[in-house]
Amino acid sequence: MKIAFAKLALPATGTVVVALPEGAKLGRVGLMLDRGTKAALSRAMAAAEFKGKKDATLSIPAPAGGKFKRVLLLGLGPVKGFDAVTAEKTGAALYGHVSADENVTVLLEGLPEAAISAARLASGAQLKSYRFDKYHTKADKNSKPKIKSLTLQTDDPAAAKKVHAPLAAIADGVFFTRDLVTEPPNVIYPESFAAKARELIADGVKVEVLGVKEMTKLGMGALLGVGQGSLRESKLLVMHWNGSRDKNSKPLALVGKGVCFDSGGISLKPGAGMWDMKWDMAGAGAVTGTMRALARRKSTAHVIGLCGLVENMPDAAAQRPGDIVTSMSGQTIEVLNTDAEGRLVLADVLWYAQQKYQPRAIVDLATLTGAIIAALSEHYAGLFSNSDELAGKLIAAGQATNERLWRFPMGEEYDKDIKSPIADMKNIGGGKAGSITAAQFLQRFIKDTPWAHLDIAGVVWNEKGTSLAGGGATGYGVRLLDKFVEENYE
Ligand code: BES
Ligand code: ZN
Ligand code: ZN
Repeated sequence: MKIAFAKLALPATGTVVVALPEGAKLGRVGLMLDRGTKAALSRAMAAAEFKGKKDATLSIPAPAGGKFKRVLLLGLGPVKGFDAVTAEKTGAALYGHVSADENVTVLLEGLPEAAISAARLASGAQLKSYRFDKYHTKADKNSKPKIKSLTLQTDDPAAAKKVHAPLAAIADGVFFTRDLVTEPPNVIYPESFAAKARELIADGVKVEVLGVKEMTKLGMGALLGVGQGSLRESKLLVMHWNGSRDKNSKPLALVGKGVCFDSGGISLKPGAGMWDMKWDMAGAGAVTGTMRALARRKSTAHVIGLCGLVENMPDAAAQRPGDIVTSMSGQTIEVLNTDAEGRLVLADVLWYAQQKYQPRAIVDLATLTGAIIAALSEHYAGLFSNSDELAGKLIAAGQATNERLWRFPMGEEYDKDIKSPIADMKNIGGGKAGSITAAQFLQRFIKDTPWAHLDIAGVVWNEKGTSLAGGGATGYGVRLLDKFVEENYE
């Protein structure tokens, strides 16, 4: 779908969408319409009592007097409160109404800051238009969207275009994440994930990949223990974007859990639903997509993305429940459940990030616990942090992008739960507050860096679809992290 911005002018053909805020009249748009079309529209609006209420639509097929396929009236709701999030959701809903049309022109009228609204509407439509159909060998013509172009008309198309450019870069990042997360686990495994990330080199990102040999030298016994039952070699992916003028500035570190398939290992998961564990790399996917977004919109921040890429499989060589591994930090871990593997991977990546880069702050993203889904369902991701300031900034970015975060408590009371009689810690708690004990585990690998952990198990995959995604991978995290970087590191 091609997105364009243009000045208000009546198109000759195609589908015309007249987007009207609540209570607004067919003002200038009305003047542009020929008499026949305007009369048809006015009659239809009166008959259907169309008043521009949010999400209200009214379709008038082939009105007399014009060559339009149809005119669609779309209610935008009240002008007050028509913010970026509302505009994006409206754009996404609009896409749903016109995806079966070919060339669509949206006439926007009556909105203050029309350029921003037009750009956000376009971005919402674009995000909703994502499809992943490369493995369908027979195209289902009826379900395939026909839309070719979406043109948004406003007073100042140049301004709208300018606002839209970074949003298009962010959408590229979101799509990259969704692709990674949706690909099956026989296609995306640690090595192929890293190979895909190398595509970011073309965007100006520096990409490094460490293998088992390097990680063994670094003493990453926790991460390597998880991958040792897999035929696929574990990898540590490191992506650098430094858009700041100061080449020696301290970076922000983004860390992602990249378990390309989580069978549970010897603590094998039940068969039903195990396929979902292809998306246990969505934290790494979000970090990688964010790097693309930052690079493509030429962010002035210094950001390093680090992804621990492994496959958790049962095998003769796999680690056993009861094994004790030594992490890069030197701390020992009793692995009582091989399915609590994400924290083992992150332990070494978090430590490496601090040791190697002395970051200003670290944010990790991980599909870490089923317990977070029990607590928050699909509406919020869990936030855990040792810094009120950092937590506040992330929550704000979550609100601005509608990728919302809910903060959980942490503390000594919970940390006690992961004490082991035989090692420095065990990798599971007693069974209560499982998301918090997992976060406590991670915190044991944080020195004094401001750190936040986002448990995103409930938000990265949504079968029914969300406001901005059609179903499947949501790409959660990219828009959130991008906003967080924009607001605090540029
Ligand atoms: N990848 C899972 C968490 C998960 C579950 C993500 C469901 C998305 C949907 C993680 O590795 C895991 O298996 N966690 C265990 C931890 C337990 C063994 C302490 C869990 O949540 O059950
Ligand atoms: Zn697991
Ligand atoms: Zn997992």
